[in-house]
Amino acid sequence: MPINKVGVLGCGLMGSGIAQVSAQASFATMVVEANDELLQRGLGNLRKMLEGLVARGKMEAKAKDDVLGRIVGTTRLDDLKDCDLVVEAITENQPLKNETFAKLDRICPPHAILASNTSSCNVTAMAAATRRPGQVLGLHFFNPVPLMKLVEVVRTILTDETAVRTATDWVRAVGKTPVQTKDATAFIVNRLLVPYLLDAIRVYESGLATLEDIDQAMKLGCGYPMGPFTLLDLVGLDTTMYVAEVMFDEFREPRYAPPPLLKRMVMAGHLGRKSGQGFYKY
Ligand SMILES: NC(=O)c1ccc[n+]([C@@H]2O[C@H](COP(=O)([O-])OP(=O)(O)OC[C@H]3O[C@@H](n4cnc5c(N)ncnc54)[C@H](O)[C@@H]3O)[C@@H](O)[C@H]2O)c1
Repeated sequence: MPINKVGVLGCGLMGSGIAQVSAQASFATMVVEANDELLQRGLGNLRKMLEGLVARGKMEAKAKDDVLGRIVGTTRLDDLKDCDLVVEAITENQPLKNETFAKLDRICPPHAILASNTSSCNVTAMAAATRRPGQVLGLHFFNPVPLMKLVEVVRTILTDETAVRTATDWVRAVGKTPVQTKDATAFIVNRLLVPYLLDAIRVYESGLATLEDIDQAMKLGCGYPMGPFTLLDLVGLDTTMYVAEVMFDEFREPRYAPPPLLKRMVMAGHLGRKSGQGFYKY
C-alpha cells in the first residue's frame, strides 16, 4: 500500500521535526499530543522553525502555509484511524510505548505500518504488543530532525521485508538517508558513539589530559566537528548516562558502564548546556 497519510505521535523535540519533514514532503500529517497545551506548544515550535526558514530565504511564505495546511493536530489517538504510517515519538518509556502500540494496533487500518523513533527501547516488545508484528519497526531520526540527514531503519526478528521496503521508501521521500539495522539496543550510531564518549570521560578521569586538550585532539586529529566533551554537554549528561545504563543492562560489557564521574555530575545536576553547567560552563 502506498503511504498517503502519516500520523506522528508526540509533538515534542523529535515529533515536531518528524511532522515538519513529513508535511514538507507533501504527506498529509496528523499529529497527536497528550493534551491541548502541549499540542499548541509543539505546533508553535514547528511553525517557528518554518518561519525561520522563510526569514532566511530558504522557503517561500506560500510554501510554509502549504506545509502548515497539511498538518492537523489532535489530542485523540482515534484520529489516526486512516493513517498508512504512524511514527511514534512519545516519551522514552518501554511500558508506555508497548501500551501505545497495542492501542495503535486497535485503531489503525490493518495495512498500516507502526514505527517507533525510540533510541533505546526494545522495538520487538512493541511489535509483540500488537497483532501485526510484521508491520512494526523502528525509524530512528536524529536531532534536529529537519537538519540531520540520517534515519536508522530498525527491523526486529518479526518485521516483514515489505514493511521495511515501504518505510525505507518513505524515509527517502522525506529527504533523509536510510541505513538498515537490527533491533539491538542503541542500533549503529549510539552503539559506537556512546562507548567513545564514556572512554573520553575515563581518559579525563585518569588525568591523561585536560578537557580542552582532549576536545582539541579529537577535533583536529580525527576531523570530528566537535570534541567529546562539547558533544556530551550538547547531548546532555543525564541522557548519555541513561542510554549507557540501558546498553550495559543489555550487553553486560564494562565498556558501556557509566564511569563514576559521569554519575556524580548527573547527581550534582551538571547536565550540560541545558543546566548551564556540564564539563564546561555556559
Ligand atoms: N531527543 C533526541 O535527541 C532524540 C533523538 C532520537 C530519538 N529520540 C527518541 O524520540 C522520542 C521522543 O523524544 P523527544 O526528545 O522528542 O521527547 P520530548 O519529551 O521532547 O517529546 C515527547 C512528547 O511526547 C508526548 N507524549 C507523551 N505521551 C504521549 C501520549 N500517550 N500521546 C501523545 N503524546 C504523548 C509528550 O507530551 C511530549 O511532548 C523518544 O523515544 C526518544 O528516545 C530522541
